[in-house]
Amino acid sequence: MDDKRMTIALFLPTDMISLWRQAFHEHAPHLDTCSPDELKNPQDIRYALCWQHTPGALSDFSELKVIFSMGAGVDHILRDPAIPDIPIVRMVSPDLTMRMSEYAVMHVLLHHRNHILYASQQSARQWITHEQCSARDTRVGVMGLGELGRDAAHKLSILGFSVAGWSRSPRTLDGIECFHGLDGLSAFLGRSDILLVLLPLTTETRGILNRDLFGKLAKDGPRGGGILINAGRGGLQVETDIIAALDAGDLIAASLDTFEHEPLAPTSPLWKRPEVIITPHNAANSEPQTLCRSICQQITAYESGRPLRNLVERQRGY
Ligand code: NDP
Ligand code: OXD
Repeated sequence: MDDKRMTIALFLPTDMISLWRQAFHEHAPHLDTCSPDELKNPQDIRYALCWQHTPGALSDFSELKVIFSMGAGVDHILRDPAIPDIPIVRMVSPDLTMRMSEYAVMHVLLHHRNHILYASQQSARQWITHEQCSARDTRVGVMGLGELGRDAAHKLSILGFSVAGWSRSPRTLDGIECFHGLDGLSAFLGRSDILLVLLPLTTETRGILNRDLFGKLAKDGPRGGGILINAGRGGLQVETDIIAALDAGDLIAASLDTFEHEPLAPTSPLWKRPEVIITPHNAANSEPQTLCRSICQQITAYESGRPLRNLVERQRGY
């Protein structure tokens, strides 16, 4: 990169700004950072890093060239109708992928090994063993075979689970049965005992995790009902339908990391369900020191005329 000073504006929640600022300072000392409160000269802003920015906040920067999403998902950017028509780059990194696969493997195993039941038995000081089914008899269905879904599917397959995946376009993955599109959805659900959701939130996927879908999950598996693990986005799920499906037995348990409204309201009935494991949207955190390096590499490439990677296709919404 040349000596010309450039500024990246950090449209991030206040408690994240200082860590990102420090990371940019270490990885790209020639790049100035500024928070929305410090903006003086809008024409100095060449890049923006965003997480849940206020809609309209990016519309006044005549020199803005690239928008970076702090996360892998970009629904938080595309929901802004005033977003300028410039490239949007999303976060793809081995670190983020590894964190998500840790979450995915941990939650599949928790349910597969009946951990909720054993934890409740421990509270009651009960020594009771239950049938232990093998991984190969447990069918995991991964919704979304992108950067995150593919890695989780692969790691679960190595553990011996019978893994299938579902995507928008056809995919071929070693050892994973692949389904795609709405035409392939029912067959995919019908062979899934545990549904691991790593889809982006788009107009097509909003509300896809509903009563109708839960009703199509396999009932002939080891546990006799479906298990939902959603670390994609809360907007994918209809929370009243999750409760109804749990009551009806279409779902027997769930792990939820993302919610229709975050933070999850204290009044949500989900908190009280013993068969639901709730985490506060932290399945895979974006770690500034690691991810900053990749943003700086992309800026260097862009400044020297090389193409940007991990570009969002606005039309399809991810
Ligand atoms: P990618 O864009 O790499 O992959 C998205 C996958 O979803 C692709 O396989 C795509 O299909 C599939 N897909 C999209 N739309 C549809 C549809 N209508 N029908 C069927 N399949 C569809 O995303 P990532 O894997 O990197 O990330 C996935 C999501 O995970 C993010 O968008 C974000 O919301 C969430 N996330 C959550 C985190 C957390 O902490 N909870 C952390 C990081 C990400 P195709 O292969 O055909 O393109
Ligand atoms: C992401 C997220 O999209 O953290 O990366 O949810």
